Amino acid sequence: KGWMGLDLYMYQGFWYSSGDIFSIETTLAVQETFQVHSTDIYLATQPKSGTTWLKALAFAIVNRKRYKKSTLSTHPLRSANPHKCVPFLETDIAKKTPTYLPENQPRLFGTHMPYIALPQSIHDSGCRIVYMCRNPKDVLVSLFHFGKKLSDRLRTVMSMDEMLEVYTKGLTPYGPYWDHVKEYYKASTEDPTRVLFVTYEDMKKDTANKLKQLAEFLGYPFTEEEEANGAVEEIVRLCSFETLKEVNQHGNFREGVPNNTFFREGKVGGWNNELTKEMSQIMDDITTEMFQGFDISI
Ligand code: A3P
Repeated sequence: KGWMGLDLYMYQGFWYSSGDIFSIETTLAVQETFQVHSTDIYLATQPKSGTTWLKALAFAIVNRKRYKKSTLSTHPLRSANPHKCVPFLETDIAKKTPTYLPENQPRLFGTHMPYIALPQSIHDSGCRIVYMCRNPKDVLVSLFHFGKKLSDRLRTVMSMDEMLEVYTKGLTPYGPYWDHVKEYYKASTEDPTRVLFVTYEDMKKDTANKLKQLAEFLGYPFTEEEEANGAVEEIVRLCSFETLKEVNQHGNFREGVPNNTFFREGKVGGWNNELTKEMSQIMDDITTEMFQGFDISI
């Protein structure tokens, strides 16, 4: 038993649930049947590491000519959850009847699948992968609150002590967190043209510059003219926590999962108000040990 009392199953060194969320079945289905296009872009994260934000940013970048001005009310991100614009590979796609397929080219997909679980064809086709990593203490706290919002559906409640225990044991969907991060980090150092490793913290600190770096990596660099016309800032604003939260006040992403579940605080270091000194120390010790030899600063 792991996060929120879910029964978890170990596969290729990572934990999965069974059924409709975080599911081992759909991961296997992706591995067996998913057809990769060489132009596809995969946005990978541990849950609660900024998936929604990364999806919005990448979608806005690659589609910016299609939806000329992001300030227009017709821009998809002005009315839809980023998760509707960029589907999850392992939940929306890997079904007999996919929930939604991306309409635009290149196809963008989000995924929480560990690097080792991605279909080999993603690597063989040379598709670009972006990984967003976030400080594990903020991920833990965010996952704790996400669990609280889903507690009716999952029929369980958890205390922060219990949360810390399952988290440090790696017993979260797609956990252990540290192994997930390390695999993608390693891939990014081995082939930086194919895998980009970014952090939520860097993206928060310097959104415009990181956005430009992301656009360049994805093959959609901003021209000087675009920069002069404020195209970068426009996307920063469109994808900001405040704008997306406002757009997603109502409605459901899935049954029992309101759109607003994905927008809580959107801050760096919020863990400070929620973890005790001892809890923080336990997390720091594990992170130092697990990331030894890895140049990951979060
Ligand atoms: P908090 O719970 O700390 O507020 P995910 O998208 O992977 O589920 O992660 C959710 C976390 O990202 C939540 O963190 C959420 O508030 C934050 N988030 C969502 N949209 C964001 C945005 N546009 N900018 C910054 N953070 C955002």
